[in-house]
Amino acid sequence: MCGIVGYIGSEQAAPILLEGLKMLEYRGYDSAGVSVHDGCRLNVIKAKGRLQALSDMIDGGKAVCGACGIGHTRWATHGKPSDENSHPQVSNSGNIAVVHNGIIENYLQLKDFLSSRGVKFHSETDTEVVAQLVDYYYEGDLLKAVHKAIDRIEGSYALGIMAADQPDKIVGVRKDSPLIVACSENGNFLASDVTAVLKHTRDVIYLDDGNYAVLSLKGVEIYDSFLRPIDKKISHVDWDISSAEKGGYEHFMFKEIMEQPEVIRKTIAPRIRNKKIVLDEINLSSDFIKSLSKIYIVACGSSYHVGMVAKYNIEKLTRKPVEVALASEFRYCSPIVDNKTLVVCISQSGTTADTIAALREAKRLGGRVLSIVNVVGSTIAKESDDVIYTWAGPEIAVATTKAYSTQLAVTYLLGIYLADCLGTIDKDEYERFLNEIMTIPDKVESILKGKGHIQYLASLYFNNQDIFFIGRNIDYALSLEGSLKLKEISYIHSEAYAAGELKHGTISLVEDGTLVIAVATYQKLLEKTISNIVEVKARDAQVLSLTTESGKPLVGQVSDNMIVIPDIDELFLPSLAVVPLQLFAYYVALMRGCDIDKPRNLAKSVTVE
Ligand code: M6R
Repeated sequence: MCGIVGYIGSEQAAPILLEGLKMLEYRGYDSAGVSVHDGCRLNVIKAKGRLQALSDMIDGGKAVCGACGIGHTRWATHGKPSDENSHPQVSNSGNIAVVHNGIIENYLQLKDFLSSRGVKFHSETDTEVVAQLVDYYYEGDLLKAVHKAIDRIEGSYALGIMAADQPDKIVGVRKDSPLIVACSENGNFLASDVTAVLKHTRDVIYLDDGNYAVLSLKGVEIYDSFLRPIDKKISHVDWDISSAEKGGYEHFMFKEIMEQPEVIRKTIAPRIRNKKIVLDEINLSSDFIKSLSKIYIVACGSSYHVGMVAKYNIEKLTRKPVEVALASEFRYCSPIVDNKTLVVCISQSGTTADTIAALREAKRLGGRVLSIVNVVGSTIAKESDDVIYTWAGPEIAVATTKAYSTQLAVTYLLGIYLADCLGTIDKDEYERFLNEIMTIPDKVESILKGKGHIQYLASLYFNNQDIFFIGRNIDYALSLEGSLKLKEISYIHSEAYAAGELKHGTISLVEDGTLVIAVATYQKLLEKTISNIVEVKARDAQVLSLTTESGKPLVGQVSDNMIVIPDIDELFLPSLAVVPLQLFAYYVALMRGCDIDKPRNLAKSVTVE
């Protein structure tokens, strides 16, 4: 969602801010702005639309003088995208400028309070109250004024704040929204995401909730919520800037699809040692595992779809009940969680607001939370009892691909690990699973080599208005992901159904030429799925099937077109089957001329409820 960059140093600030904001574009936004101090005054420039529009207005930053500034990309929540609603938001007097990620929940009360004291508001945003409130308390000490304002603010925030009469200071503070600081030879930085500062330094400090940072030419000072100075650990970011760049590919999404064999290998291989799954990053005692009454999986979007696959697999492996819940629903459905419940939160970003809220609710109810997270040091990682990281590296495209695949890989390891501890699989099965799981990267690689065929199939169907996905069991879970991938980047209407459910209503939408993508990889239910394919064929649907080498002879007889993946143990089929679905969505979106990496209305990390 929104992005923040702040800089103070020896260089001109505006080009550095624009460059940092460019690195945050992937998060999704609809307007951008900067505020730079030129030594006399704060210059604020904002523009609705793409960052390029802002950059053009200020000649790539060259038209704005000054070595201290803050910048922002905004994803609209309170008030439509417009110049007025963009950040930085500035107080009436013009003295305070603020950039903000998150939501100020009591902004209406604060607005009433300030209005009753004569403050005039100019935007529809919740952020403007922060600027006005800091100004209201301002008596020459910016940090103290911010501290007083924060005392009255409820909600989530990462804030960067400047004052017109303090040309060489930026104050940052956070709660429930990420914020980092970093120092380099040519200056000091504030940012909502490390990618914004990677060109300058890889040594960063992750601020915790309630921390304040004061950036000046001398360096960065950090304070706790009582404004007592504190020391914080410097973390070294060990992935390279090239991981966050396109490296010759036309789109991040395509690059990330192609990276999957490597990142799956990186996620699995170090955790299999001497023919054993070693999860030494977690601390689940065998007594706890044996006492488990239930496993809850909580996540949003594609991470939820991973949870759907995991439910089928982990139940089969462990014989423990597994419930999957959308994080946005979990909190409000009176979940049955106690100290015999393992709650598995899955999140690429580790900052998804709904998943964070679900995690906190699970802990409040006494559950033990194990998270599967990609972003190191993120809120979900920090607040969980145990974390298993997916080593996917930075994922930039809004549509997740490689993070999804590494999440799946971790759920396989976890399921087999739990089953081994519970004694619900025998030694032979255990060994066979480990041998099979190691074959995933090479098999994914072979599927990627066949991308030309999928591009051809996309050329047949990219003009379709509606596309249905059907499948049973894990194929149903995959259908959900295939359909989401397609609709989020190509804007084609698409729905996914459990194949047996279609005839209970939705089949009325199937007519001559409707495309039905039948995911038919799960051998045990192949004949059942074939019956469902035949039902839609009888209504003149076009059927594109996705099946395995073993399924090909039967599925081929009832399909108009087919994608065939290698055979693998049924537990791991989703890792292979998802790849053609990702490629299909990608090529369809490409042929329709869509903005693949930044689809409309979407954000990479959804930090609001
Ligand atoms: O960062 P998270 O995994 O918590 O994000 C969850 C969803 O927002 C995310 O998977 C979303 O559905 C993707 N854009 C789908 O491609």
